[in-house]
Amino acid sequence: MTYLSRLLTATGLAAASIGLFVIAGTGPAQANGFGLGITGSPHDFSAATWNFRGEICRTCHVPHDHNRAQQLFTNGLLWNHQVSSVTYTMYDNAWSSTLNNTQSPQPDGVAKLCLGCHDGSVALNQFDSNAALTRPDPAVFINEVDAGAQIPGALNAGDLRGTHPISIAYNGGDLGLNPESTAMGTSGTIADVLDGGKVQCSSCHDVHDGTEAVAGTHLLRVNQAAATGTASGLCLTCHNK
Ligand code: HEC
Ligand code: HEC
Ligand code: HEC
Ligand code: HEC
Repeated sequence: MTYLSRLLTATGLAAASIGLFVIAGTGPAQANGFGLGITGSPHDFSAATWNFRGEICRTCHVPHDHNRAQQLFTNGLLWNHQVSSVTYTMYDNAWSSTLNNTQSPQPDGVAKLCLGCHDGSVALNQFDSNAALTRPDPAVFINEVDAGAQIPGALNAGDLRGTHPISIAYNGGDLGLNPESTAMGTSGTIADVLDGGKVQCSSCHDVHDGTEAVAGTHLLRVNQAAATGTASGLCLTCHNK
């Protein structure tokens, strides 16, 4: 099932209403996760014009490092996409006097991988042997696909003070919950969604839109809406408020 047909099925729209859907799509960014796996999900770029390989996993992972001028694999997880070289302003102690946990000086781990597409500074087609954008095809950036998906937003390029703290330790003592025993949706415990003990983009989002993601959300691990789950359920999973 293609992404568009999934969307039409999920929204109950007939193919004849595509024009209507396009108009609706120009409003606030829609939550397009289905929790059904990466095929047909917002991260399935196999049919994207900029994806010169036409594969799904390859925009992010590759099994071998052959014919590469750059060592993208040093980012871990057989990474195959260029990462950002931006120096960010962090949501740190200099910004918030109430922040308690240890934070990395710059985004690291999985957050670094996400920002390599999402911060808007690296072209989506800078992957594989095209990591240095040596192919003649034009660079395509995330804001050209979905401006709402650029994190941080274009106005605040490189400034993460408007983004929930990332690359920060989760210390149960400060937050009032034990990460080892507190359940996180269907992802296990809070500890299971930490990356090297830290909160990263992947602590809240399931990038593959698999069974750990709640359908009808932005790939979230816990529902946020009162109508379909617990109001602010994701936030309340980690914060004893
Ligand atoms: C848009 C980028 C992206 C795409 C496309 C993608 N992945 Fe991933 N993958 C990631 C990131 C980021 C992580 C680390 C975050 C995490 O594990 O939640 C990851 C982690 C993994 C892991 C290790 C952790 C785990 O979840 O088991 C495996 C295995 C994996 N991906 C396989 C795949 C396969 C197979 C495909 C294609 C069918 C794929 N990925 C497509 C970004 C991607
Ligand atoms: C503490 C949890 C949390 C962390 C960490 C987090 N997010 Fe999110 N993210 C959310 C929630 C909740 C939403 C939905 C709220 C909204 O739409 O504004 C969201 C929405 C999004 C969206 C959809 C925006 C739209 O309007 O289309 C993107 C893209 C995104 N996040 C990417 C990221 C990236 C990249 C990172 C890491 C740099 C990250 N998130 C870290 C909780 C988080
Ligand atoms: C290969 C580039 C790439 C990587 C790497 C990547 N993303 Fe994305 N992501 C995108 C693009 C492009 C979109 C917009 C898709 C669209 O709107 O059609 C998107 C959309 C999203 C959305 C919005 C989904 C929705 O509801 O429509 C979220 C949330 C998100 N990404 C989170 C993440 C997180 C978290 C990571 C890392 C764990 C990550 N992404 C890694 C390219 C990437
Ligand atoms: C995976 C766990 C996790 C989730 C989910 C989560 N948070 Fe957090 N949050 C943290 C951690 C860890 C900190 C850093 C706390 C500290 O060091 O004082 C933090 C910090 C914050 C801060 C900054 C506090 C300060 O002192 O400056 C705010 C505000 C916040 N979170 C709100 C939210 C909201 C709203 C949500 C839901 C969208 C959310 N959090 C979801 C773990 C999480």
